[in-house]
Amino acid sequence: MDSLLIRGGVPLRGDVTISGAKNAVLPIMAATLLTREKCVIRRVPDLSDVRFMAQILESLGAKVKVDGDVVTIQAARLKPVADYDLIRKMRGSICILGPLLGRQRHARVSLPGGCVIGTRPIDLHLKGMKDLGAVISIEGGNVDVLARRLIGADIFLGGRAGPTVLGTANVMMAAVLADGVTTIESAACEPEVVDLAYFLNKMGAKIIGAGSPTITITGVKELAGVEHEVIPDRIEAATFAIAAAATKGEVTIHGARPDHMHAVLDKLKDAGVKIERKGLTLTVKKGGRLKPVDVTTLPYAGFPTDVQAQMMVLMALTPGLSIITERIFESRFMHVSELARLGADISIEGPSAIVKGGRLLSGAPVMASDLRASAALVIAGMAARGTTHVNRIYHLDRGYEKIDQKLAGLGARIQRVDQV
Ligand code: EPZ
Repeated sequence: MDSLLIRGGVPLRGDVTISGAKNAVLPIMAATLLTREKCVIRRVPDLSDVRFMAQILESLGAKVKVDGDVVTIQAARLKPVADYDLIRKMRGSICILGPLLGRQRHARVSLPGGCVIGTRPIDLHLKGMKDLGAVISIEGGNVDVLARRLIGADIFLGGRAGPTVLGTANVMMAAVLADGVTTIESAACEPEVVDLAYFLNKMGAKIIGAGSPTITITGVKELAGVEHEVIPDRIEAATFAIAAAATKGEVTIHGARPDHMHAVLDKLKDAGVKIERKGLTLTVKKGGRLKPVDVTTLPYAGFPTDVQAQMMVLMALTPGLSIITERIFESRFMHVSELARLGADISIEGPSAIVKGGRLLSGAPVMASDLRASAALVIAGMAARGTTHVNRIYHLDRGYEKIDQKLAGLGARIQRVDQV
């Protein structure tokens, strides 16, 4: 199993290009199940999650061809039951439920188990499908969703932590082929939801309001195959911006969508990070005098939970006190104890982490627990003196395309080695 060996203390310099968004491409790949026709998806990042989704679609009967960052999918014939062994490997695979129900009026998928960052139930997904007329049964770890007819309905999808991203995606995909009009209230507004709606509308769906809390879907009889280029990954772009600031470097980020990153860019500006924006290019400039800021994660357009861990590293390096509050997931502080191994001073009080910043970090072997925590450990390792070993980087490969090569291209002393 791979790990990353990082010799820290080098400011990142140069240019990096952002890949397609993992959290846009997964539901868009699932949406291809809604048509018999061929779909071509471009700017698809080379990630293990994408490979899992391709295997899941193939296990359902779809033909999938990967050619570099272009994926061609045709689901001429489909089976309603997805392979448990594949589904359990990736929570995001739950987003095949909506398209299968929409197209075949029947789907059986294994219930996603727990996750280190939170319990992550799918009650809202199922509530939405029930509101559309589906009968839900759970047996043997599988959820079975069946409908004689799907009928448009008014659906409220707000939950304990606000809207649900994949829940909105799933209900939207089930409703596009339903009879009549569906309105989703308290819908998630993430750019990835908007990109999915854009893809579905190109297929012939009738969706309005994506990007706002109210989405209206007028059902159609069938959908056609299309070509689509997914949006760039705003979380990857934010990760590189923070890595540049944390290593006191100067990095130009190409191919991002700054208009999807307002909360992050605003918070970095408040923290004293100098960022220049030219069209779709962001340059993190050297020399900003960093100051502590408080951060609270919120649904989009608030500060993304997927950038919380990376931002915590920047605050651990910044002299002064900052409070980071996680409002989306119950237990998304697994990185705190590993950052402490590098010398950071962070304590947890309920949903908040109290960061006493400004300590010099020193390299050590650390363990990644989830995707974004692993990105945070890599940034901390690059900012620390000495050598850091980040183990279990399979988490990282789930969501970052060739991150070690991209960072090495910016001058980082980083290499992939066997796990220690
Ligand atoms: C998506 O997960 C992303 N994953 C996550 O990114 C991201 O952290 C999350 O949205 C929030 O932005 C993908 O898009 C593949 P939610 P999702 O449903 O849709 C609760 C990453 O690092 N909830 O919006 O699964 C839930 O427990 C990953 O790339 C219910 O209570 O997240 C959570 O507390 C991690 N019932 C909150 O809502 C439900 O039925 C938001 O979860 C559904 C969710």
